[in-house]
Amino acid sequence: MSNQIPEEVIEEVRKANDIVDVIGEYVQLTKQGRNYFGLCPFHGEKTPSFSVTQEKQIFHCFGCGKGGNVVTFLMEMESFSFYESLEFLAKRTGISLPESSGQKRFSHSEENQSMLDAYEWLTKLYHHLLRFTKDGKAGYSYFKDRHINDETIEAFQLGFAPNAKDFIVEFLEKKGFNKQLLVKAGLVSLQEDNTVIDRFRGRIIFPIRNHLGKTVAFGARSINDQGPKYLNSSESELFHKGKLLYNFDLAKRYIRKENEAILFEGYMDVISAYQAGVKNVVATMGTAITEHQAKLLKRYVNEVVICYDGDAAGQEASYKAANLLRNAGCEVKVSYLKEGDDPDSFIKEHGGEAFRNQVIRASDTYITFYMRYIKKDYNLSLEAEKLNYIQKVLMELSMVESSIEREYYLQELSKEFEMPIEALREELEGISVKSANKQHKSVENSNTKKTGNYEVRRKLLPAFHNAERRVIYHMLLNEWVAERVQSEIGANFRVDDHKIIVTHLYGFYEAGNAPDVSKFIENITDEHLKQLITEIVMLPEMEEVIDKALQDYIHIIKEQTDEQSTISELKERLKVAEQESDPLKAAQIGQQILEIRRKLKKNS
Ligand code: UTP
Ligand code: MN
Repeated sequence: MSNQIPEEVIEEVRKANDIVDVIGEYVQLTKQGRNYFGLCPFHGEKTPSFSVTQEKQIFHCFGCGKGGNVVTFLMEMESFSFYESLEFLAKRTGISLPESSGQKRFSHSEENQSMLDAYEWLTKLYHHLLRFTKDGKAGYSYFKDRHINDETIEAFQLGFAPNAKDFIVEFLEKKGFNKQLLVKAGLVSLQEDNTVIDRFRGRIIFPIRNHLGKTVAFGARSINDQGPKYLNSSESELFHKGKLLYNFDLAKRYIRKENEAILFEGYMDVISAYQAGVKNVVATMGTAITEHQAKLLKRYVNEVVICYDGDAAGQEASYKAANLLRNAGCEVKVSYLKEGDDPDSFIKEHGGEAFRNQVIRASDTYITFYMRYIKKDYNLSLEAEKLNYIQKVLMELSMVESSIEREYYLQELSKEFEMPIEALREELEGISVKSANKQHKSVENSNTKKTGNYEVRRKLLPAFHNAERRVIYHMLLNEWVAERVQSEIGANFRVDDHKIIVTHLYGFYEAGNAPDVSKFIENITDEHLKQLITEIVMLPEMEEVIDKALQDYIHIIKEQTDEQSTISELKERLKVAEQESDPLKAAQIGQQILEIRRKLKKNS
């Protein structure tokens, strides 16, 4: 841990950044009792076991065990170094870190750090050229023709790469970047004669920002129908197409606000919608949405509207995306655009309001979309195919939980195919019974899984173990309890980890600190101990320390340790008796040990 930054500054930064706000930027948290709960960002799960407490300013996941304070959260989440976490939090709250705070430690390799720098310079350069120079005129007019205004160009840092081979190469070399790095970053291409040229020359530039707003790649679109429509930066350690969503950094606060994310296919769709005031918008980058991206969205929001191009390919992709998102636990809607339209062209033609009301608000539920989508596989003018189609829809319908919803779709089907609703209902019930039997087993399994971790583990712990945890809990929150325990039993806890924790804690209080779990954890370097402390602090159902209860806990621990030491003493004596070949004495001592053990077991 690099603690060259003064303790007071670390303290100030930590205090200024409420853990619920910071984690809330990554995880959808809901308040339950005193704590907040959400889906753990560190392991895959569908029911929340990740909890955050505002009072104590720490987080803990009962599923995977990870825990810590606001600084360690960012170290885990962003792979930041300690310094970077602090820098991030300081920036967030307008605190300036002292310049002289020693060596900055970056989590990125030097090479990646330089790539980021190169991208930052180039983003600015391409943008500047587009906005203010003759060389960028072609790009600027292109955006103007597509009704993109200056404010939007600014917001997305759109740019233009002039049609010159070595313009940017020279620029970057002057800034001290070496050619190899630029080739590796996919910014320039290596020619046969060993010279390098700008890969994106003559194209408009869409900087692709990661979730922190840093450019990690470019999408470069041709403006004259020559070459491929888009050239993108190659994948790198900083840029994985399947992990990043275009515009996520700007969109996430709107996604939160609207409780909904809109998913597009193209950069231009995102930019047009954003300009039209629909800002909760993101896009994949030329590939189908991945599980990673779906999970990322799910952490922020429940509802996702898929809004792809209105052609067959768009429908196909919508179906795949819908299922992937549903598997990740999202509620999905699919919007409907007519053949030949994409979100960008719709907005251009009808404006933002119409887009919001007639496209987004009018999106189909998954079932309605499904009913429309699978029609292409059936020739509905044939009676047999019509029945197959209905059967297929009913299968899907049997998985809808709400009976009101089911009834609604039954009516739709009944109207569309002029069939008596009773017949459809009966058919549906038949399917439901069948699939209920099938699913019974898997539900049972998942139930045992859910309770299988934390509660069970806790119940299985021996009484003294729980007593020690409870005492530590109160020691962490009240200095007087720590003092009392210290004078009564010192560090004589049975569980080794507990011993280490209380020893640290005595030191913490002796150094003049007031109770502050978040700060305490910061000084613990051992990952396992850190997790254990956060788990203890998140123990439910314990609030006030009742003097009597505390005394009981101490008693249990003491008794345990007393008897343990009696056993060790007896064992010593047993050894001596055996050495002295005194079988009678040895048997007596053996009997005593057995009895104490039996008693201990009974108490556990
Ligand atoms: P589109 O062809 O729909 O492009 O591809 P677009 O961004 O909407 O552009 P306009 O409106 O036609 O000008 C959708 C997305 O697929 C990726 C890009 O991310 C694009 O935004 N793509 C497309 C590529 O990566 N390479 C390509 O050659 C084409
Ligand atoms: Mn498009």
